[in-house]
Amino acid sequence: MSGTAPTPRRRAIRGRLLDFLPEGGYRLRADHLLLVEDGRITQIGPAAALLPTVPPGTPVDAHGDRLLLPGLIDAHLHFPQSQVIASPARDLLDWLERHTFPAERAFADPAHAARMARFFLAELLRQGTTTAVVYGSVHAASIDALMAEARARGLRLLAGKVMMDRGPEGLRDTVEEGVRESAELIARWHGVDRLGYLISPRFALTSSEAQLAAAGELLAAHPSCWLQTHLAESPGEIEAVRARFPWARHYSEVYDRFGLLGPRTLLGHCVHLGEEERARLAETGSVAVLCPTSNLFLGSGLVDLGALADPRRPVRLALGTDVGGGSSWSMLRTAATLCDVARLVGRDWSPIDAFRLMTIDNAAALGLADRIGRLEPGFEADLVVLDPAATPAMAHRLERAHGLEDELAVLLHLGDDRAVRRVYVLGEPVAGADLSVHR
Ligand code: GUN
Ligand code: ZN
Repeated sequence: MSGTAPTPRRRAIRGRLLDFLPEGGYRLRADHLLLVEDGRITQIGPAAALLPTVPPGTPVDAHGDRLLLPGLIDAHLHFPQSQVIASPARDLLDWLERHTFPAERAFADPAHAARMARFFLAELLRQGTTTAVVYGSVHAASIDALMAEARARGLRLLAGKVMMDRGPEGLRDTVEEGVRESAELIARWHGVDRLGYLISPRFALTSSEAQLAAAGELLAAHPSCWLQTHLAESPGEIEAVRARFPWARHYSEVYDRFGLLGPRTLLGHCVHLGEEERARLAETGSVAVLCPTSNLFLGSGLVDLGALADPRRPVRLALGTDVGGGSSWSMLRTAATLCDVARLVGRDWSPIDAFRLMTIDNAAALGLADRIGRLEPGFEADLVVLDPAATPAMAHRLERAHGLEDELAVLLHLGDDRAVRRVYVLGEPVAGADLSVHR
């Protein structure tokens, strides 16, 4: 008879721990040790005290003075656009027609989707992103390929096929297909291991009213799923929405009418909202997912962070790269750009606020703040090790750094994938500057 439990898979990770607290503020713990057992953090303490208690044979990864944080979370990007990034266009609608829709047509082929999925997830990990919120193409096969690859890598990933019955030739579903394929994907992937499904009507311009209504019904029928779409990104888009939905007082009302707003709803961009819309997003608990590099690259506009975050009725916020409208895979570059944009609209968004957004706030926006985004016993051990002195210019600048905020500013504004030294998924090293990941 075997009464003994199997030995857990263990690893101890030593470094300078940084994370952010739900009630506000941060926690910086120098020379601490974090013990991982079977993918979860089980103990955290000063290295000197905890190290002697670690079971013999446990590997210990020592990261010195580098910062060990929860893995970064990217709350908005597009799987079929990894080869669209850096394709200049006049504006959003021109970019969609000229670059994006042609690239997405290729995802009808499962072999292409599988090859792209391997690159996509390896690249996210290389950038220190351990959880992502992802749009597929209109083809269910794109999500099958992505979910299968994410599952094989043990990743926490949320994704959904786009519904677009008013899309361009060769890239459309029907109301019935959109519902059936989304429901089949939910049955196949939602809640399997660490995977989750997002019902994903692409945006108001590519769906009929019947499809928007069907998406709302699907969300009501699957309340543990999420819903993602795009809202008020560019002036040309908003003009077209006004013409297509003349009964709506504003863009947000189009989604509101069909039951698409709520606490599980992630609305990409939200650049051009009126006060009535912001108030309605706040009231429904909907999340505005900011994509600042995309808004600059496509010339969409400057998001007014301060107006969204107004403490009298704060809209829940998240941050995403929006690859491939966004111009960087790096959440560090994306958050740095958010700080730049905030200054342009006369707001202050500190490096500490920026790191908070990439970790605990993005986790909270997904309703996952009880399992990712913090360094806490019980949490999943998705981690990133960042080196604030990764390049000669960073090391040089650090000689005159004053405190944590300054150090984080260096990481944000001078850092990128070169600063990502090690990435752990469920406590296992999977990527980073020292490890190869593309396969
Ligand atoms: N609006 C509708 N589709 C898209 C997309 O693929 N990217 C961006 N940035 N905006 C969109
Ligand atoms: Zn997008």
